[in-house]
Amino acid sequence: MKKSINEIRKTFLEFFEKKNHKIIPGSSIIPKNDSSLLFTNAGMNQFKDVFLGKKEPIFPRVATVQNCLRTGGKHNDLNNVGYTSYHNTFFEMLGNFSFRDYFKEDAIIYAWELLTSSKWFNLPEEKLLVTIHSSDKETYNIWKNIIGLSENQIIPLKKEKEIFLSENFWKMGNSGPCGPCTEIFFNNTQNKEHQNKDILVENNNYLEIWNIVFIQYNLQSDGSLIDLPYKSVDTGMGLERITSILQRKKSNYKIDLFQKLIFYIANQNNIKDLENKSLHIIADHIRTCIYIISSGVIPSNEGKGYILRRLIRRALRHGLKLGIKEKFLYKIVPYTIKLIKKFSNGNMKKKEEIGKILKLEEDQFLKILKKGIILLHENIKKIKKNILPGKIIFSLHDTFGFPIDLIEEICKEKKIILDYQKFNQLMEAQKIQSKKSKKFFFEKNYQTFKIKPTIFLGYQEKKIKTTITNIFLKENSIKKIQTLNKKIILILKETPFYSESGGQIGDTGKIYNKNFSFLVEDTKKNGLVTMHFGRLISGEIKINANVTAEIDFKKRKLIAINHSATHLLHSSLNIVLNQKILQKGSLVNEKYLRFDFLYPNSISQEEIKKIEKIVNYKIWENLNINCEIISFKEAKEKNAIFLKNKQYTEKVRLLSIDNFSHELCGGTHARRTGEIGIFKIISNNSISANVCRIEALTRKEALLSIQKKESIFNKIKKNLKEEETKIVKKINFLLEKNSYLKLIYKKYEKYKIKETTKKILKESFLIKKTNLVIYHLNEKKSNFLNCLINNLKNNLNSFIIILTNETNKKISVLVSVSKELITKITAVEIINFITKEINGKGGGNKENAQGGGIKPKNNNFFIKKSKKWILSILESKIKKHK
Ligand code: ALA
Repeated sequence: MKKSINEIRKTFLEFFEKKNHKIIPGSSIIPKNDSSLLFTNAGMNQFKDVFLGKKEPIFPRVATVQNCLRTGGKHNDLNNVGYTSYHNTFFEMLGNFSFRDYFKEDAIIYAWELLTSSKWFNLPEEKLLVTIHSSDKETYNIWKNIIGLSENQIIPLKKEKEIFLSENFWKMGNSGPCGPCTEIFFNNTQNKEHQNKDILVENNNYLEIWNIVFIQYNLQSDGSLIDLPYKSVDTGMGLERITSILQRKKSNYKIDLFQKLIFYIANQNNIKDLENKSLHIIADHIRTCIYIISSGVIPSNEGKGYILRRLIRRALRHGLKLGIKEKFLYKIVPYTIKLIKKFSNGNMKKKEEIGKILKLEEDQFLKILKKGIILLHENIKKIKKNILPGKIIFSLHDTFGFPIDLIEEICKEKKIILDYQKFNQLMEAQKIQSKKSKKFFFEKNYQTFKIKPTIFLGYQEKKIKTTITNIFLKENSIKKIQTLNKKIILILKETPFYSESGGQIGDTGKIYNKNFSFLVEDTKKNGLVTMHFGRLISGEIKINANVTAEIDFKKRKLIAINHSATHLLHSSLNIVLNQKILQKGSLVNEKYLRFDFLYPNSISQEEIKKIEKIVNYKIWENLNINCEIISFKEAKEKNAIFLKNKQYTEKVRLLSIDNFSHELCGGTHARRTGEIGIFKIISNNSISANVCRIEALTRKEALLSIQKKESIFNKIKKNLKEEETKIVKKINFLLEKNSYLKLIYKKYEKYKIKETTKKILKESFLIKKTNLVIYHLNEKKSNFLNCLINNLKNNLNSFIIILTNETNKKISVLVSVSKELITKITAVEIINFITKEINGKGGGNKENAQGGGIKPKNNNFFIKKSKKWILSILESKIKKHK
């Protein structure tokens, strides 16, 4: 009986448990404290510090099942997915690890036993072959003499000059633990004999199933290798791959989990061909997207969010290739989650939220996609020599937002090459241009000047005595300056000025001594150095001068209060929305606070009221606001709020508002919540898909805003002459009345047009079956004239209509001539004649024209003159005709 994917996973763990390994859970797909990786890409990631000797191993032997993503960076399978049968962007990696315990021999013996023993996976030995690092004689001997492989089964891979560049050398990224490795391959062909070189090209016939890495170096970012103090083993076997072999399927996409998913997607979207590559890509990507979104990532233009966006977009494009024109991914979410629960070690909770996030992204992208594909295809038709010019790639990408990887993929299918050189040139030129146009005020790399980190004293002090260590004017370091009002940057040894960070704006204030006074207009950080931006307002500043640095404390206090209020808001949101809300950004200044967070729904007025109530209650309880420096671990144990994408140091600053809020924060705060006074939300919006923004006021600003609203309300009350309790009713009544009156007015207008038409027709002349209408009106609404002329035209066959209208001593004229008359006289000719009479201008075509001018002294005379002129023309033309 073939084993299911669940049984295979279980068997692997059972095997290593029997070999005295501790079974521990895999880590999150979001690496903790490791900025070198976007997503976890191997089972060894969580043990990086243990391999490096920075941390003591808790267990010497461990086995895990690790959720991995290979969508970027060093290990990137994204472009293989769909094109080979054995790559997935998300996969489970089975791994056993030895920390300073067993090394090469046992690692190889274990792997071989699990794969080939009839008690375990029972794979035929002759179907397996291995590669080794060509300098690794020890491993060669183990395979040959201990395991007993034939020479034919052991393939040393080509060695590069630098050992770490060779094929069989594994590294997690551009730095970190690494070492030579040996890989076990499965011969998926019917051939008993194989050619060594076959294996060198990754293909569907020879599958790499298990990689055993002998970790012994620490790769430095400059490429050098440092010996690690201890030797360790790291192994990894893709669960989906080994399952495909054990289930005797020739593709990952045919194993139980994927078969069900592919069948479901095909069925839902009426797709017959279950082998279609696009279908496989969609199945792979939807699974990966679900894992990524449930780890708290949303689509965006950078980092993890960008990978997610790429996957969604790629899946959508393949949907389009299959003829799915509408959004569809979000519909597959519930079923995929069901499968993940059944077949994998995933426990997705936020089914609806995941669906909503996908739906919004699908909506946005389908619009770009449909237009972009048309444009790209139009351009492809025009190209020569199968090269897509850089200019076109640039315009599709930059102006239109069409993703490069999709341009690449569409072109790859059509065997078209992209002119990257030109494209990169254009991108570079644009970058320089946009930098220039931003005109940032001086930001220099302070490392050049070897400036020491500024000591921040602003948590306790508002005014200190210190020394100026550097003065910068534009890009230049200067020794002294006495020019007033020029933008300058001062660097101090110590500072009470808080520099903009964590959403809190930089302090303002002054720096002075008896010789000068300098106004600090903003404070920013550059690395560990605090930059005081401002202007000299009197005297002369000299380097090394002893000065007093004093912040605008009144303003700082308001900022601190708003910062504390932001923390109260965050914790209240968690309560009211019943989930851990993830912060996406914030702004705290002396006037108001702004808080952006991830939430796929809109927040109701009722919820806003609840939030305001909780925050204000906490203010009235006058809670203590405390700060302590503790370890990151302890902070997490306290369930503190922290930013998911930020790197925290070992020691962190924990800001606690009694027991109500614990948050990692470097900002400045009130001492007790009572200082906040009142809290009032003034706006609540969605600023992009999934991101909500709340803006709020505190203290005096909150009071002023309430008072302002009240005075508007009082004005309404006064104008409506109504009691407070009846105001809403009155407004509704007036609105209804207003729409009723509009209706009546419309009817009246219709009636008026009908009546005026009748009157005008009565006064019109008939000249040889042609109706000549010349009529003067005094109408305020210009639209009335248009309606009237249309109505007249509908009532007449052969006509010349001239309507003049008088408003504010000005005359406007509309002329219309029926088609069969335009050979004799045209609307433009008439308008030109008339506007000349009234010192005006006009224009139009042969049938319709309009113009305007100044009201003549005698309207009647002017009309008569026009009439006479028209008649004379008509008569002469008619005579001619005869
Ligand atoms: N860390 C090794 C790999 O991912 C086992 O291939």
